[in-house]
Amino acid sequence: RPAPITVTLTGAGGQIGYAAMFRIASGALFGPDQPVALRLLEIPQGVKGAEGAALELTDCAFPLLTSVDIATAPEQGFDGANVALLVGSRPRTAGMERADLLAANGAIFGPQGRAINDNAADDVRVLVVGNPANTNALIAQRNAPDVPAERFTALTRLDHNRAVGLLAERAGAAVADIAGVTIWGNHSTTQYPDLSHATVAGRPALEIVGESWGRGEYVDRVANRGAEIIEVRGGSSVASAANAAIDHVHDWVLGTGNAAATSGAAAPWTSVSLPSTGAYGIPEGLIASVPARSINGQWQVVEGLDVDDFSRARIDASVAELAAERDQVAALGLI
Ligand code: NAI
Repeated sequence: RPAPITVTLTGAGGQIGYAAMFRIASGALFGPDQPVALRLLEIPQGVKGAEGAALELTDCAFPLLTSVDIATAPEQGFDGANVALLVGSRPRTAGMERADLLAANGAIFGPQGRAINDNAADDVRVLVVGNPANTNALIAQRNAPDVPAERFTALTRLDHNRAVGLLAERAGAAVADIAGVTIWGNHSTTQYPDLSHATVAGRPALEIVGESWGRGEYVDRVANRGAEIIEVRGGSSVASAANAAIDHVHDWVLGTGNAAATSGAAAPWTSVSLPSTGAYGIPEGLIASVPARSINGQWQVVEGLDVDDFSRARIDASVAELAAERDQVAALGLI
């Protein structure tokens, strides 16, 4: 059997942590032959939740789970981490100013970035789920100068999966027949779910669903799906968020799509928030969502897609929001 892969999960006592850890322990990240060691990082108020979940993990008797450790110190929590899922954050509460939100998260993601820098394994891969995810990822990345920048990512896979699911529903098609959907920009309501290159069973999606829906109602529905879930369910997205985080890491490590189709224009892609290298006019360094494939364990931006005027304006608006958040955390001395 291979040596276990160490996965650190922060916010493990919370909802998404609870929804994610049983699937991680059962092999959803790396397949049925790869053992996993779990490290759960919480703040003191959340430790009981993590401890209770750990008792249940024992009671599942997962054959792939080699150990569960609970920590409250980031240095300990990220020790030897190969994968770090940063779920715990300080969400916005009523009356909170944006600057307060960013400062509170800086106090979490700065120290966690430094702890990853100093304690994680050399091959560490980081996924930030806790909101504001893209900017929290930027803060962590800038505080981890010894880790290659591209190992820091933020979750827009939930938005991507929502975009795929809602397109399939509208087109009356199977999810498996959908390809070429992209989420651009920030994990916020400014995000742009783009169907320009999407296909449904090989046919252009915008021809099937119509431009007015595909570039109108659809864009708003995907961007506001989180609020829709809260309204109907009475609580935020949990299982779908955990599922998306698992999809993201799974595809990063094992590759997007099947091995025979990982290159060439037809190879499937997904949406990932990655530090920009300047592709598609996104300022270098911003952690923005782009179309990407994972090849040999590394994200590669899908290059050369046409961006028409409608798409350009939507991408620019969301990227401008990210740049403003970056400027705010820079002004606060967090990066
Ligand atoms: P929750 O409130 O149930 O759990 C959060 C947990 O994080 C709590 O147990 C808390 O004690 C812990 N925590 C707080 N600060 C911490 C720190 N410094 N270190 C370790 N743990 C810490 O929240 P839930 O529902 O699990 O959501 C978690 C985050 O994920 C929220 O910020 C939410 O906005 C975000 N989210 C992001 C999505 C995305 O697509 N990027 C989708 C859905 C949620």
